[in-house]
Amino acid sequence: MSRVALVTGGSRGIGAAIAKALQAAGYTVAANYAGNDEAAAKFTEETGIKTYKWSVADYDACVEGIAKVEAELGPVDVLVNNAGITRDAPFHKMTREQWQQVMDTNLSGVFNMTHPLWPGMRERKFGRVINISSINGQKGQFGQANYSAAKAGDIGFTKALAQEGARAGVTVNAICPGYVATEMVMAVPEKVRESIIATIPVGRLGEPEDIARCVVFLASDDAGFITGSTITANGGQYLT
Ligand SMILES: NC(=O)c1ccc[n+]([C@@H]2O[C@H](COP(=O)([O-])OP(=O)(O)OC[C@H]3O[C@@H](n4cnc5c(N)ncnc54)[C@H](OP(=O)(O)O)[C@@H]3O)[C@@H](O)[C@H]2O)c1
Repeated sequence: MSRVALVTGGSRGIGAAIAKALQAAGYTVAANYAGNDEAAAKFTEETGIKTYKWSVADYDACVEGIAKVEAELGPVDVLVNNAGITRDAPFHKMTREQWQQVMDTNLSGVFNMTHPLWPGMRERKFGRVINISSINGQKGQFGQANYSAAKAGDIGFTKALAQEGARAGVTVNAICPGYVATEMVMAVPEKVRESIIATIPVGRLGEPEDIARCVVFLASDDAGFITGSTITANGGQYLT
């Protein structure tokens, strides 16, 4: 029987590429999303991957949503915490709401999804938790005190939990993408995009598939000795 993978924010952007790559690698995949029903329906139609709507910022909704996925597809072996949002503003203009929304989704969302799945992974002596952080959690970014703090928090969470999961066969790793050509990045004016590309040594934006391939590797049995690590996939833009 194939392993089950659950990808949060899996209906669009990087998450959609991750869901498709895991499907191609033989996993039974569930993709969660927050509110864009149209994009989710289109994604399911194109890929056959089931989509499930709930907010990762809501713990009870995560428990309920995970129970539905597991009832339909079986126990989740691979969790990819990919859902994320930005609410950018220079700090002197940042509202408490902008801070809280980003923390709730990008950091607490990772807790909310991992916590209900953790006991099952430990009991079955196998699990993969893969957290999609960001280059801006590693280096910080002007206008993103909220986002950078949450994404750095995801790396700390990864390192701590990796130590708890290791003996139970559960690995926990993070991936830090650089700038990837998703709708979000392609929406910025071309001039700004060109100026970003000029700072990337490989001379291009990342493709969602560049990140998806890292996920497929970390999810595999071949990656069983890798835990608590951070894979940096940014075209050489920031070297840790
Ligand atoms: N794009 C980049 O250059 C880049 C770089 C570094 C890191 N990242 C990180 O990579 C991840 C994916 O980014 P992306 O650019 O692919 O984003 P995206 O295109 O904006 O897609 C975001 C996905 O997350 C879902 N989502 C948002 N809030 C959610 C919530 N509360 N609960 C459940 N799902 C939620 C969205 O669902 P709906 O469709 O329903 O809105 C959508 O499926 C994020 O964590 C982001 O921070 C991106």
